Amino acid sequence: MSDSRIESGVGGGPSTALTRAELENHWLPFTDNKTFKDDPRLVARGEGVYLWNQRGEKLLDGSAGLFTTALGHCRPEITEAVSAQLGELDYIPSFLRSHPRSFEAANLLARMLPAPINHVFFCNSGSESVDTAMKIVIQYHLARGQAQRNVFVTRDRAYHGVNLGGTALSGIARNRQAFGSLVPGIVHMRDTWDADQCFSRGQPARGGLDLADDLLRAVRTHGPDRIAACFVEPIAGSTGVLIPPLGYLERIREICDDYGILLVFDEVITGFGRTGAAFGADSFGVTPDIMTMAKALTNGAQPMGAVGVRDDIYAAVVDAGPGDAVEFAHGYTFSAHPAACAAAIATLGIYEREKIFERSGEMSEYFLDSVFALQNLPAVADIRGYGMLAGFDVAAQGTPGLRGMRLQRALFDAGLHIKTTGDAAILAPPLIVEKSQIDAMCEILRDVLKSI
Ligand SMILES: Cc1ncc(COP(=O)(O)O)c(C=O)c1O
Repeated sequence: MSDSRIESGVGGGPSTALTRAELENHWLPFTDNKTFKDDPRLVARGEGVYLWNQRGEKLLDGSAGLFTTALGHCRPEITEAVSAQLGELDYIPSFLRSHPRSFEAANLLARMLPAPINHVFFCNSGSESVDTAMKIVIQYHLARGQAQRNVFVTRDRAYHGVNLGGTALSGIARNRQAFGSLVPGIVHMRDTWDADQCFSRGQPARGGLDLADDLLRAVRTHGPDRIAACFVEPIAGSTGVLIPPLGYLERIREICDDYGILLVFDEVITGFGRTGAAFGADSFGVTPDIMTMAKALTNGAQPMGAVGVRDDIYAAVVDAGPGDAVEFAHGYTFSAHPAACAAAIATLGIYEREKIFERSGEMSEYFLDSVFALQNLPAVADIRGYGMLAGFDVAAQGTPGLRGMRLQRALFDAGLHIKTTGDAAILAPPLIVEKSQIDAMCEILRDVLKSI
């Protein structure tokens, strides 16, 4: 393939052909770079629920970009808001300055978050939101004279991003192998998936209390006043949509309350309507102390992450400072970037005006019916689903993960973009998806699952 040219234009438009050599300099993240560059799958354009590849062929976007693009691609109001912002103020730091739209974005977001989470720290990604949350937790306990609280509890099969804190919190062996031990004091509970739950739709009925008591075991092992925080994704997304059994999150909340442990919900995937309500916290009726967010916060149009904290956590950290001094020595050059704030304001406004979270809740049944209709295909080993988020496993063939990789390529070639992790595939279409588009996605899935 080394001399062949790879089309990179959109059908009908000017086509810039890239040679294999021209693909070399970009080191792609989480990608099999060598094989990918020999046979790349590039996307050149997006609109609504559709994408177009480098040859101008149309695809359905079955994972809303990467759980980012809830309102569909290239939503004009968001594009225009970003463009107008860049023409007015392209950049100002938020260190000792900031700009009016950062407050507007925080106010809008606070209105959506469950009370009493009203204070928002901005960053640029889900990974940064997780590491920021870890630092807020530590700073909060320090401010209250509890410096001994330095153990974090998390879960197997969790994904909390790729910064050092998040890598250590994650429960994915491959991501952790080289770096996972760089942050000490991390304890893993069991994940919530069990073979008994195969093909159970929504929250599995059994096992919730027993699994949650792993947190109690951590308390017993490390001491009643040593655990700083417990991090959970309300639904573990990236590792294949693992839905908490009934009673699980409630019991985790109870144990956190009993032992002064902060509960952090990582809502990077579950936030902004994915579960059929504003946040997983709302769907499951359990309010954490801190929430991490990113992805659909800006509809994916700008990189942005955020950490929402309870009012008293903010107050404890800020009031502990002596005045005229920085209270929390943390932040990013691009925290609350004006263009990201403009994208967030436009996005959150559309979520509210168009009642997108309610729409997601209403569409969920049709979506889950359609996905669960695939359960009798021999290649399908399990299906899980909640809200507008569904995961299925293909039965492994040979080395674990290979069949999932083959599936992901075959689906793309058949016109469907979705995320896979190992032998798990995740379906999370834009929340504006129509029933006919769900049908078309499941049709492609059915055909490809029969052929791999
Ligand atoms: C729950 C969760 N936390 C954190 C992250 C990391 O987000 P980012 O890739 O924006 O750094 C992800 C990414 O998928 C995620 O699913």
